[in-house]
Amino acid sequence: MKKIINGLSIFLAGSNESKAIIFVHGFPFDHTMWQAQVDEFSKNYLCISYDIRGLGDSPAGDRQFTMESFVDDLETIINELKLNRPILCGLSMGGYISLRALERMQEIFSAAILCDTRTEADNNEGKLKRAAGIKRINKEGLAPFAKEFITNCFGNDFKQNKINDLEKIIEKSSQFNPVGVIGGLLAMLSRADTTANLGKINIPTLLICGEQDTLTPPPVMMDMFHRINKADFVEIPKSGHMTPIENPQIVNKAIRDFLVENNL
Ligand code: MLT
Repeated sequence: MKKIINGLSIFLAGSNESKAIIFVHGFPFDHTMWQAQVDEFSKNYLCISYDIRGLGDSPAGDRQFTMESFVDDLETIINELKLNRPILCGLSMGGYISLRALERMQEIFSAAILCDTRTEADNNEGKLKRAAGIKRINKEGLAPFAKEFITNCFGNDFKQNKINDLEKIIEKSSQFNPVGVIGGLLAMLSRADTTANLGKINIPTLLICGEQDTLTPPPVMMDMFHRINKADFVEIPKSGHMTPIENPQIVNKAIRDFLVENNL
């Protein structure tokens, strides 16, 4: 079922009576990157996925995005749907949103699943790379940027064996509103560092990272793992940065084990 909340496209699957899991996607993707998890977990949970403002079906609005405004959107969705301590699950940029949401209001969540993400803000090199991406989109349109960025997100196994799937994902993201994508880049470029909050997280937390992830590689997430009091870490074989798409069975098993272990 689709709902519009504060202009955002929200997708619900599963029973309203069940515990909720809210899935926050990465950049430049949309809610469909969680399809394999929604298919699996909507059997026992209310699965909520949504398109972050400016991406997928969610309009770019005033185009003035910050990580903070993305967290405001997440909070609005949770309040409007009256969710009772949902499980928060975010990947990469969705992880940046989740990490800041945990810093602001961890008490509204019962657990967190952080996939292929990091707490550090962009360094100078990273900021300049984002700026170059914005320049490129303005000059050449979105498609060449989307092709290069998305290809880099996937590991070699997926790139070699699932070339059609990869092309479909690139094709889809290439149709997004370029201004919304630029807004996402600016929000990431200007985000705050959330490392100091890791030691304050006191809800069960699962960290997931693809063994071939070059954007947020396993050592980066291992460091996060060591700083959180009650965390599990699972490395996903044969997967790059997009673990839920690249190796959904292993990711789903890791999530299932975590939910069972923590009586969620
Ligand atoms: C993502 O997957 O959300 C992006 O790779 C995050 C980023 O560019 O920092």
